Amino acid sequence: MPSHLRNTGGTDASGDLVTPSTAPVPSVVTSGPEPVRTITASTDVAQTNAPVASGATPGGLYAPLEGSGAVVPHTGTPTISLRNVTVIYPAQPNKPALDNVSLDIYPGEFVFVVGHSGSGKSTFLRLLTRELKATKGDVIVAGQNLTKMRNWKVPYLRRQIGTVFQDFKLLPDKTIYGNVAFALECIGKPRSVIETQVPEVLRLVGLAEKMDSFPDQLSGGEQQRVSVARAMVNRPPLLVCDEPTGNLDPAISLGIMKLLDRINQTGTTVVMATHDREMVDSMRRRVIALEAGEVVRDQERGGYGFYDAL
Ligand SMILES: Nc1ncnc2c1ncn2[C@@H]1O[C@H](COP(=O)(O)OP(=O)(O)O)[C@@H](O)[C@H]1O
Ligand SMILES: [Mg+2]
Repeated sequence: MPSHLRNTGGTDASGDLVTPSTAPVPSVVTSGPEPVRTITASTDVAQTNAPVASGATPGGLYAPLEGSGAVVPHTGTPTISLRNVTVIYPAQPNKPALDNVSLDIYPGEFVFVVGHSGSGKSTFLRLLTRELKATKGDVIVAGQNLTKMRNWKVPYLRRQIGTVFQDFKLLPDKTIYGNVAFALECIGKPRSVIETQVPEVLRLVGLAEKMDSFPDQLSGGEQQRVSVARAMVNRPPLLVCDEPTGNLDPAISLGIMKLLDRINQTGTTVVMATHDREMVDSMRRRVIALEAGEVVRDQERGGYGFYDAL
């Protein structure tokens, strides 16, 4: 069976997906007993069941399955390590966008990155996908030093990282199915895999019935769910989100947040930059606060903090 997001459940009378008895196994886990991860979907927001079985691979990129909001132990190999990282854009040579930042993010964590506009949140996220190279210091993602990584390896790195942005970045002339399928086509997945995985992930985000619509026929919240589906269709162990709820109403944002939370509960590490104070305060996850390119706070179960005039 295809290894990603395979949902063997049927639908019950209400049309909701029934829990599958077997669960998807992420493809990037390379050794040891494989954890069993279950993701099911409802017609609205994705639901995850309690883990069917646990036992993540030692040193694997996915985390052991935990309940929502559990503090992830900071042991083993971090998914992300920054060591004395400075980023200086040529246009602003005297004002580092990131200034000597060191931090570790562990498999399975859900981390909010908060701070004023211009504090360096997007710069930090762009380092993780090697959209940017550090001016100084080391950025290590999934065991690879991105500062030293050859350019030809970058596409392989990006296969392991899903990205979600504030402005969705959907292709307007492709259907919803086509947008999500495109992510798999680009990495050379066979059609049979695409035909299985795309409907499954669209079910996961509650948009199976919108498969043939075009982006401009969907609401903002629905479009963002498509971009989450696109980010997750290849089951990457790391999801990087840059203000994914920045364009959405609070109620709609909550749906996106729940979806990201469910994805995190399957063992995926989530790093999310946000301005959404209420969301951060209600989720009580790890918060890394940036100010003028420096980490000014790094707190387990943190809140947004007392910033004025954000
Ligand atoms: N491409 C760029 N060229 C020059 N300066 C930039 C560029 N992108 C961001 N900056 C600067 O880097 C700093 C951090 O920006 P950014 O990472 O976008 O912050 P945030 O996402 O927190 O709003 C800001 O001072 C911003 O003006
Ligand atoms: Mg930004």
